[in-house]
Amino acid sequence: MPAIVLIGAQWGDEGKGKATDLLGSRVDYVVKFNGGNNAGHTVVVGDEKYALHLLPSGILTDGVVPVIANGVVVDIEVLFHELEALSARGVDVSKLLVSANAHVITQYHRTLDKVTERFLGKRQIGTTGRGIGPAYADKINRVGIRIQDIFDENILRQKVEGALDQKNHLLVKIYNRRAIGVDEVVNDLLSFAERLRPMVADTGLVLNRALEAGKTVLFEGGQATMLDVDHGTYPFVTSSNATSGGAATGSGVAPNRIDRVIAVVKAYTTRVGAGPFPTELFDESGEFLRSKGFEFGTTTGRPRRTGWYDAPVARYSARINGVTDFVLTKLDVLTGLTTIPVCVAYEVDGVRVDEVPVSQSDFHHAVPIYEEFPGWSEDITGVRAFDDLPQAAQDYVLALEAMSGSRISAIGVGPDREAILVRHDLLG
Ligand code: GDP
Ligand code: IMO
Ligand code: MG
Repeated sequence: MPAIVLIGAQWGDEGKGKATDLLGSRVDYVVKFNGGNNAGHTVVVGDEKYALHLLPSGILTDGVVPVIANGVVVDIEVLFHELEALSARGVDVSKLLVSANAHVITQYHRTLDKVTERFLGKRQIGTTGRGIGPAYADKINRVGIRIQDIFDENILRQKVEGALDQKNHLLVKIYNRRAIGVDEVVNDLLSFAERLRPMVADTGLVLNRALEAGKTVLFEGGQATMLDVDHGTYPFVTSSNATSGGAATGSGVAPNRIDRVIAVVKAYTTRVGAGPFPTELFDESGEFLRSKGFEFGTTTGRPRRTGWYDAPVARYSARINGVTDFVLTKLDVLTGLTTIPVCVAYEVDGVRVDEVPVSQSDFHHAVPIYEEFPGWSEDITGVRAFDDLPQAAQDYVLALEAMSGSRISAIGVGPDREAILVRHDLLG
C-alpha cells in the first residue's frame, strides 16, 4: 500500500497531525503538498506537545523523510524557526527535503494579506494573515518567486522587481502603506540561500523513485475539503487545493499511484474564520464543545466556531476525495451529553435537501435537520477496542458511518498519541 493521502473532511483542525503521527512509524516519507504556515497541527507525545505549521507532522517520527512539495508556499524564515525549535527539543530534522518548485512567501505577501483583509471590512475572510492568498495569487499570476530562484541572484532580482512593480503602486496609492524596496526583499531571501541549499531537491523525482522502490509515502493535506479553493465554501476558503486531487498536482505523483485516501473527521464540527456553517451553535452546547474540545486555533489562537456533526458535509468529502477510510476524532469530547444531535439533511426555503447545496446562498441559509442520538457518560479515553466503548458510543459511530459514505477505520478518544482505537488497518 505505497501511496496514501490523508486529508481533512470538514473545515480543518480535525486532528490530521495526530493521525499522520499515528501512521508515522510505518511510512517512509511524509509529504506536505498544499498550503503553508496557515496550518496548525498539534501532536501530543507523552508529556510533550508539538505545534507544527509548515513542516509535515511526520517529522516527529525517527526515520521518516519529511518533504515540502511543489504545491506548498514556503515562508523561509518560519521554516528555519520551526526547524530550530524542533532541533532544540531533540527532533532530528536533518532529512527534510524542499521542492525547488515550491513558491516563496515574502514580506510583501504578508503585508498584502493583512491590508486586503482590513479593506474587506465586514466581508473579510478571517485569514491567518500569513500571506498565503497573496503568494498563491502571484503563483497563478506568474509573478511568483520559487525556491530555485533564490540560488540565482540575477533572476531573483528581476522577479522581485516584476512582482513589486504593481504591488508598490497598490500599497502606496490604495492602501496608504510604504513602498517595499527590491533590495530589502532580495537581500532577505539571499540570506537564507546557503542554509536552504542542502535541503532543496527535485521532490517529484525523489517521491516517484521511492514509490518504485516499494517505499510508503503519506501525503498530508493542510486545511480541509470545505476550505478547498475549488470545492470548499468559496470565497471563505484557503487558496490551495486541500482535497486529495491536490496531492497529485502538489507533489508530482500521478493520481493513478494513489492507493488509499484517508479523511480525518471530527465527531462534531469546527471552523475558524468567516463563512457558512449550518450546524454552528451559539448556545451553551457550542461552549461545551469549545471548552471540552479545547477548540482554539493552533496558529492564531482564535476561538473556533463549534457545531454538531454534519453528515452531508462528510458525504460530500467522501465523494470529492474518493475517501476509502475515515478517522473519526474527538469522540471523547462528546462524553457527558445526554443526547447528541447529528445533521442528516438541510431545509432550504422549506424544501428538504439531502446533499450539500451547490449554491453558496442556499448553503448560507440551510437549516439543519437533526436526528438525535443517546449520549454516554463513561470516560472513554482509555478504551482501545471498539467493542469496549459504551453501547451508545458504538451506536453513534455506526450511525455516522452509515450516513458518511465510507467506513470509519479508526477512532480518536483523547489527544495523546496512544488514545486511538483501530477498527481496520489504515495501511493494510
Ligand atoms: P489538524 O490541524 O487537523 O492537525 O488538527 P489540530 O491539531 O489543529 O487540532 C486538533 C486538536 O485536537 C489538537 O489539539 C489535538 O491534540 C487534539 N486531538 C486530536 N485527536 C483527538 C481526540 O481524539 N480527542 C481529543 N480530545 N483531542 C484530540
Ligand atoms: P489546519 O491544517 C482551520 C482558514 C482561515 C480562514 C481561511 C483562509 O490546521 O487544519 P488563509 O490564511 O489560509 O488564507 O485563511 O482558511 N484556515 C484554517 N482553518 N485550520 C487550518 O489549517 C486553516 N488554514 C486556514 O481561518 O478562514
Ligand atoms: Mg489545525
